[in-house]
Amino acid sequence: MFHLGWFLYEAVQGWGTPEYDASYGWATPKLHQDMARRLEAAGFDFILLEDSSAIPNEYAGSRDIYLSETVHAPKFDPPVMASYMAAATSRIGIVPTMATTFYPPFILARQAQTLDLMSGGRLGWNIVTSSSDLAARNFGQAALPEHDERYDVADEYLDVCKRLWSSWEPGAVLADIESGVFADHTKVREIDHRGAHYSVLGPLNVPPSPQGRPVLAQAGNSPRGRRFAAQHADIVLTPVNHPDGIKAFRDDIRRLAVEAGRNPDDVKVMALAFPRICEDQAAVADYRAYLKAVPDRLTRAWVAQVSAITGLDLSRYELDEPLPDSVQTNGSRGTLDWLRRDRATVRQIGLRLARLTPEEPMIGTAEQIAAEMAEVMAYVGGDGFLISGPLTPRNVARVADQLVPALQKLGVTREAYSHETLRGNLLAF
Ligand SMILES: Cc1cc2nc3c(=O)[nH]c(=O)nc-3n(C[C@H](O)[C@H](O)[C@H](O)COP(=O)(O)O)c2cc1C
Repeated sequence: MFHLGWFLYEAVQGWGTPEYDASYGWATPKLHQDMARRLEAAGFDFILLEDSSAIPNEYAGSRDIYLSETVHAPKFDPPVMASYMAAATSRIGIVPTMATTFYPPFILARQAQTLDLMSGGRLGWNIVTSSSDLAARNFGQAALPEHDERYDVADEYLDVCKRLWSSWEPGAVLADIESGVFADHTKVREIDHRGAHYSVLGPLNVPPSPQGRPVLAQAGNSPRGRRFAAQHADIVLTPVNHPDGIKAFRDDIRRLAVEAGRNPDDVKVMALAFPRICEDQAAVADYRAYLKAVPDRLTRAWVAQVSAITGLDLSRYELDEPLPDSVQTNGSRGTLDWLRRDRATVRQIGLRLARLTPEEPMIGTAEQIAAEMAEVMAYVGGDGFLISGPLTPRNVARVADQLVPALQKLGVTREAYSHETLRGNLLAF
């Protein structure tokens, strides 16, 4: 069997698609809570809420395209949305994104531990170091630190968080009404961390959760990012969407996990997937035809998205010329390298991010896509897919009511949860 996650890309849900409808209330808790309940009924392991902390202006030096097309904006605060979603569910994991480069580790460790405890051990944290200089400027920094240095700092950050999460020893909470002692102070310890970047006394003022600490997710795809992910993460995400690429990435992460002294089976590699579920073969043919002529306006919106995650003004380059090799990023390096493979044009780079190229996998009826997903996972060796698409009621219904039953019929995804916690369900297979 393999795992399913949902990649919740925050923006105005469904905007720019024929399915947008003001009645589902994109800015209400209800849309998010209904969706969390439906994906829980379908047995998803988790919902990951991506994030960045700025409205971009990298493309053409303007916020125009970002606001008119709702590209990378607006975005609600992930831990706040996580608490709404956790409150409406009881088994599915909720994985908000938070950036090490901006949040003081004590705040993050405390917020994550609170959500983990209150959700009964269902919280994950998607660790990012951020890829946006604009976001840095919202937190009093002139620009982001250098790419690999961000990971070096994040190593210390993770060390602080892990020590805070274990600053209450097992058995510290007695809750003994007879003796009147709630917690044993000898088992709740300061961490007294004094490092190159952080100074934190501890202990955490939140008791341990059923998971001990939140599940950690990470999406570094560059060489340094992979080492970081393999050292810390329980879930590693990749944008790669072809079987050979996913297999190579997973093999590499597992090799690096062993080098870091970990059991590779404890690290679940999840590949982003954008299934396009069609009613019949005629709809498949129509969609394939559409992919041969995606409108320029939509293409530019996705190129602007690449600008947002790389900090590069891609409006400066011809749409149908390859991006010059000299153009490099201090932002999402691994993702850009993957998008620009084989000397891709700027247009192709945008459309690859959007999954709108003629050679896209996973376009078909629910049964066809389920068979394709099963085949890819059998080839790759595991561990699952991170499904993405707009959070419209119709799109969620297609996945939860058509694709998942087809996967379950093949016996490749769960019919019911076997554990109470996110980590328990992740490690079940
Ligand atoms: C599936 C996926 C999800 C991601 N989600 C986020 C996110 O929510 N916020 C963010 O700042 N970066 C996100 N990223 C970017 C990565 O976290 C990472 O910062 C980026 O890829 C740069 O690291 P790298 O150069 O090591 O790849 C995501 C990347 C992938 C592939």
